[in-house]
Amino acid sequence: MSDSAQPATPVTFPPAFVWGAATSAYQIEGAVREDGRTPSIWDTFSHTPGKTADGDHGDIAVDHYHRYPEDVALMAGLGLNAYRFSVSWSRVQPTGRGPAVQVGLDFYRRLVDELLARGIRPALTLYHWDLPQELEDAGGWPERDTAQRFAEYAQIVGEALGDRVEQWITLNEPWCSAFLGYGSGVHAPGRTDPAAALRAAHHLNLGHGLATSALRSVMPARNQVAISLNSSVVRPLSPSPADLAAVRRIDDLANGVFHGPVLHGAYPATLLEATSTVTDWSYVLDGDLRTIQQPLDALGLNYYTPTLVSAADGAPDGPRADGHGASSFSPWPGAEDVAFHQTAGERTEMGWTVDPSGLHELIMRYAREAPGLPLYITENGAAYEDKVDADGRVHDPERIAYLRAHLTAVRRAITDGADVRGYYLWSLMDNFEWAYGYAKRFGMVHVDFATLERTPKSSARWYGEVARTGALPEVPVA
Ligand code: FCB
Repeated sequence: MSDSAQPATPVTFPPAFVWGAATSAYQIEGAVREDGRTPSIWDTFSHTPGKTADGDHGDIAVDHYHRYPEDVALMAGLGLNAYRFSVSWSRVQPTGRGPAVQVGLDFYRRLVDELLARGIRPALTLYHWDLPQELEDAGGWPERDTAQRFAEYAQIVGEALGDRVEQWITLNEPWCSAFLGYGSGVHAPGRTDPAAALRAAHHLNLGHGLATSALRSVMPARNQVAISLNSSVVRPLSPSPADLAAVRRIDDLANGVFHGPVLHGAYPATLLEATSTVTDWSYVLDGDLRTIQQPLDALGLNYYTPTLVSAADGAPDGPRADGHGASSFSPWPGAEDVAFHQTAGERTEMGWTVDPSGLHELIMRYAREAPGLPLYITENGAAYEDKVDADGRVHDPERIAYLRAHLTAVRRAITDGADVRGYYLWSLMDNFEWAYGYAKRFGMVHVDFATLERTPKSSARWYGEVARTGALPEVPVA
């Protein structure tokens, strides 16, 4: 794929389309011990030897906690009209329960006011994986009480910021929280217990439902509540019945386990059956499914690459396809009979295949799965080995090509009838990429991790032009 391969006709987007960038608290804020913040599971995990590349952690990250005015100015200068960020739970409610710390909330109030003053619409994610450590010590997401605690926290943040933030996202990618956090253990808290992973999935769903009603009880009716799912595009290696059964198994564990209860009020029967040797699902209590199935105002979809599977047929297991790190424990409970395969094609620095057709497929699937619900791409982007050139600039033509191809796929989905309202590029700037530490750069703004200097890459100028004009530039933007 090359940036010189121009589409025949200009690719333009609807006038009200939302053009944003996304980040999350632990990946950018730093200031982990300031103003009353207590450790989250990611502080503990990243400070545990062997858990992250080079022992990297988010103690300083990119120091956004202190540099947010500069970061907001950068976005405004580029011409973005939206910004998706997350709130650090242990900054506003250090023990995960009880009263809020005002100074913690004040940070987010200042950030939001700065955004609004510059015409950038904030989209607030309540939970991007950083559970207060105290709640993990009490059992974490496998315990029902964590869902109640999450609703209480949601209400606190909703009361504090509901007057100025209209776009709300309860959970980011609950699949990663449940199955990487408690299954394969490559994410915090690093547990490797398949039954606990499924319990966590249910209590994340319950937390989403409870938090959604808590938000609605304290916020103006105009505000919109959504959830961001990293639903997988699961494809079979061959059209054989055995490979199609493998697709069903992984589709249930990646997608149906969340969108089933959230959108349709039920777990897929095939999921319950396939996991019956792992768990009896007795923690799904009467009324839970009704609580989880709250009416939503939008659905967030995060997309990076598709997943290719087949029946294992006794063959040695391939890559686990969790994308976020290697583990000998599977993030797919009850799917020992499924093998994962590398998809063909060009790859990013993460080893993820570049396949924009998957984004189109994902959007069209959810246009069918959730008819009438506006869709947002709440994350999409790529890591490349970006370097500052002798001229002081960072040229990243691969990222521009990636963005152009994926935005063209979004446009095609809109033409095909999907109600896609916006796109948030992952990420605004290079940051702490979880188990990969600072080794993977997803930003459209380069960060020198020694000096913390920010330098917009060519892709930032390119994406800024897209945001300002609502069209993909026909000639490369220098
Ligand atoms: C997503 C996460 C985000 C970042 C990107 C690359 O799964 O939500 O924080 O790690 O992947």
